[in-house]
Amino acid sequence: MAYYNSAKLVIVVSTLVLLFGSLPQGHAEVQPQAIPAGLLNIVQFQFTSFLACTPTGNPPSGGGVPGVAGALLSGTCNGASGSLATAFTNATGFAQGILTLAEGIVIDPSRGMPCFLQVRLPLITGTTCTVFPPTGILEAAFQLLSVVNNPLGGLVAIVTTVPWVYRP
Ligand SMILES: *[C@@H]1O[C@H](CO)[C@@H](O)[C@H](O)[C@H]1NC(C)=O
Repeated sequence: MAYYNSAKLVIVVSTLVLLFGSLPQGHAEVQPQAIPAGLLNIVQFQFTSFLACTPTGNPPSGGGVPGVAGALLSGTCNGASGSLATAFTNATGFAQGILTLAEGIVIDPSRGMPCFLQVRLPLITGTTCTVFPPTGILEAAFQLLSVVNNPLGGLVAIVTTVPWVYRP
C-alpha cells in the first residue's frame, strides 16, 4: 500500500514536471510568484476580463449568458500616468490586454487595487447587445492574481477583474 501511494506521488510529480516543461518557451523565464507582502512597484498589468451581455455587464451566478463582442476597453490607474492600453472583447466577450504605466505605480495589495478597466457607454459594437444604460461607464477593478519580475525593473501584475460597477 505504501509502495502504491509513493508510486502515485511519483507519477503526479512527473506529470507536473512535464506540464511545466511544456510551457511555451517565451514564458520560460517568467515564473509567477506568490504575491509579496508590502508595497509593490507595478510597471505593467496583464489583464483578462469578461463582459456579459446583461444590464450590469456581469454574468448571473449560474453563467450561461453570451458575452459582448467587440467592446472597447480602456485601462486606468488612479494617480498614475502613462500609455494606457486599449483592448477589445473577442467574439465570446473575453478580453486580454496589457496596461503599461510610464512611471509605474506603487500599490499595497492589501488595500485593494487602484486600477480599473472601463467601458464607455453606450456600447457601439454592432452586436445585438443593447441592454446597457445609454450613458456613463462600466468600471471593474483589477484583482491581483500573481506577479512576475519585469526584466527592466519593477513587477508585472497578472490580474483579472472583479464585477463591473455602473458609474453614471
Ligand atoms: C475569447 O477569449 C477567450 C479567453 O482568452 C478564449 O477562451 C475564447 O476561445 C476566445 N473566443 C474566441 C471566439 O476567440
